[in-house]
Amino acid sequence: MKSNELFHISVLLDKSIELLNIKEDGLYLDMTLGAGGHSQAILDKLGNKGSLIAFDQDMLAINNAKERFKDYPNFRAIHSNFSNVENKLAELGINRVDGIIYDLGVSSMQLDIAERGFSYNHDALLDMRMNQEQTLSAYEVVNEYCKKDLLYILRKYGEEGHASLIVKGIIKARNKQAIKTTYELVDIIKQSLPQKVLKKKGHPAKLTFQAIRMEVNQELVVIEQSLHQALRLLNVNGRIVVISFHSLEDRLVKNIFKEYTTSQLPKELVDVRGLENIEYQLINKKVILPNEKELLHNNRAHSSKLRGIKRIIRGDENE
Ligand SMILES: C[S@@+](CC[C@H](N)C(=O)[O-])C[C@H]1O[C@@H](n2cnc3c(N)ncnc32)[C@H](O)[C@@H]1O
Repeated sequence: MKSNELFHISVLLDKSIELLNIKEDGLYLDMTLGAGGHSQAILDKLGNKGSLIAFDQDMLAINNAKERFKDYPNFRAIHSNFSNVENKLAELGINRVDGIIYDLGVSSMQLDIAERGFSYNHDALLDMRMNQEQTLSAYEVVNEYCKKDLLYILRKYGEEGHASLIVKGIIKARNKQAIKTTYELVDIIKQSLPQKVLKKKGHPAKLTFQAIRMEVNQELVVIEQSLHQALRLLNVNGRIVVISFHSLEDRLVKNIFKEYTTSQLPKELVDVRGLENIEYQLINKKVILPNEKELLHNNRAHSSKLRGIKRIIRGDENE
């Protein structure tokens, strides 16, 4: 397989691009380049004066995009965590943009390449790093985290109802010898769970793998760090749209958007002054979900949720 043939069906593609309300001459950020599906859709809407900067912390995505978008002079790919967005743009002399998209989580290509160690369906060394230059991998989480931390991760990020049985199994196994591969971990999880749980629908290792991946990549922490920067970067009429796949991600996005679209002044003061000074507005009051057709064609769409926010004024430009 050539690198520019990497496969990933973009989720909520049309709706998210519609929500961005792209101006032909605007400057846009794709924070999660992946296989480039959303980037392509943005580039299709931009004219000569518009441009797109895309971030990914995975070199695979960056190299793939450099080839795929080589004929677009208005495209630039940056290999970085999106939590560094303000600094990376400042290096280019940019401090304002017109729209930003996040399509969170892992791409199908990351899951499908066995050696990346993301998938319980492929046998590989325990890895799960989106950024191959990072030192923390799934191996350290599984073999070196204390019982309390493992329990916390499985319960919080995995919402795994059988966390304590699984952690007990992991600790017992790693006391004999280090757990090196995805299949070893899958076997330990299966041996830790009672038959009636194993008979239930869904892979028994799914939630544990999800939890470990979120810890390895510090997924919730970086979303929060990045969203505050993204909100500061927005021009008036600029928009941010976020596609999330996990209830904790969606809750985080929802709460941050709420914080920015609700007055921080006491209600009595707002009533008296008639002035709320709110700089942002939700694009849609309600979360947007994929339709039946998309659910039928793309399994990854099942837990997806889309939210958007727009900037209506810039307080710092009105002073
Ligand atoms: C779901 S995929 C994006 C798919 C893309 N929208 C498409 O249509 O092809 C998510 C991508 O974001 C990247 N990613 C996730 N978290 C990131 C972060 N904190 N910083 C930079 N890239 C990140 C992953 O490496 C992955 O390639």
